[in-house]
Amino acid sequence: MNPTNTIITIFGSTGDLTIRKLLPAIEKLLQEKLLDDRTKVIAVGRRDYTTESYLSFVEKELKVPFNTKALIPHVTYFKLDVDNPKDYLSLKQYIASISNSDTRKIFYLAVGPELLKGIATNIGESKLVEKEDLNATITFEKPFGSDLASAKAINALLWQYFDEKQIYRIDHYLGKEMIQNILTVRFANKIFESVWNNNTIKHVKIYAKETDTILSRAGYYDTSGALKDMVQSHLLQMLSLVAMEVPRSYNSEDLKNEKVEVLRKLRYDRKSLVIGQYDGYQNEPNIAKDSKTETFVFFKAFVDTPRFKGVPFYLLTGKALEQKESVIIIEFEETSEQHKWDLPLFTNKLYIKIAPQDGISLTLNSKVPGLRNAVEEVDLDYCVACNAVGNLPEAYEKLILDMTKHSKSLFTRWDEIELSWQFIDQVKQDIVNKQIPLRIYKNHQELYDLIYEMTGESI
Ligand code: BG6
Repeated sequence: MNPTNTIITIFGSTGDLTIRKLLPAIEKLLQEKLLDDRTKVIAVGRRDYTTESYLSFVEKELKVPFNTKALIPHVTYFKLDVDNPKDYLSLKQYIASISNSDTRKIFYLAVGPELLKGIATNIGESKLVEKEDLNATITFEKPFGSDLASAKAINALLWQYFDEKQIYRIDHYLGKEMIQNILTVRFANKIFESVWNNNTIKHVKIYAKETDTILSRAGYYDTSGALKDMVQSHLLQMLSLVAMEVPRSYNSEDLKNEKVEVLRKLRYDRKSLVIGQYDGYQNEPNIAKDSKTETFVFFKAFVDTPRFKGVPFYLLTGKALEQKESVIIIEFEETSEQHKWDLPLFTNKLYIKIAPQDGISLTLNSKVPGLRNAVEEVDLDYCVACNAVGNLPEAYEKLILDMTKHSKSLFTRWDEIELSWQFIDQVKQDIVNKQIPLRIYKNHQELYDLIYEMTGESI
């Protein structure tokens, strides 16, 4: 038999992430021949399914049209009790029967944080992944811990069984087209490369707004909140990419070395901190009636490097807001001539648009056409998705493909996680010690007005 070249074993195969993101991404990669025809997916789960009934379950669960037929030759459902070490040995036997020593073996933990340590231990103990075998790797979804201490404990356990090269920590924002594009925009355009510093940049805004509430994720979300769920990972990753120094090279380690330096120099202005909870959160199913979990957070941060010293970074994220929008807005200073003009002028702004539509736009001052002496703000807008051939790849397609190729640039290194938890722990501590009020919001505008009052910045 022709041995399988890649085996992706997914723990948590009946979960939301596998159904909504991972299987559709794998199906797309197979369709586009970016994954070899021999690729196998082992969907591990506790429930009693055959492969056939599992795939019909997937089809039913998915709200969008999805043709699981293409997956039939690739997917096998494997029943396993995650707490039973013997089941891991059976899985190992099964994998051995369809692989050889060259087979790339990816173990993907698409499970809740409470299962992570147990499964990782069993994978290590059963030697499904052994330190010497760099073809066998293990992938973790966020959250990686719930604070610095728990993240350290998880990491120590992982390093006991696995080599750092075998550990892939996912932050799906890094797989998004426009996040990957930040470095291209910064370093491949002279007009930006030379002005990317505190002489020219007035401030940076990083927003990840959502209209959704917590949906059906009460159990996880109530122990997490916006700071841990979004800021610790996605927002700090975006901030690092915007603020980092020029890397020695664009290889994974050199890039991460610079991102880590940003996190080392990061501090925030406690007085600017606003936390909120959407009205009705406490009535969501499985949420405590007196829950103090924040679903909104805003603060002003600074990166104390020579390049960015003094430049405010405004970070904002929240659920149940007015729109779904992830965007980075870089606002430039006024020109030295601007004050001599008798007309209202605007500052230039560069928008890196991550969602809902990927794109870049740059605003300029331009004369209003005609005889009147007036200036208007015009927008040079590039919609990446509109110009891409076919659909833009989903973040998970990129991340899965990179895993098969051992490419780790878009995955987070331990020290990035360590420093970001250190920062979040500090903010969390301030919330308690300084009794930062939790604002219940019915409407986003109440929060934005408050932010305006506190910082003079309009959202
Ligand atoms: C996840 C968070 O990491 O990111 C969710 O856990 C959030 O709470 C999601 O909704 C947002 O991701 P995206 O890709 O929809 O912007």
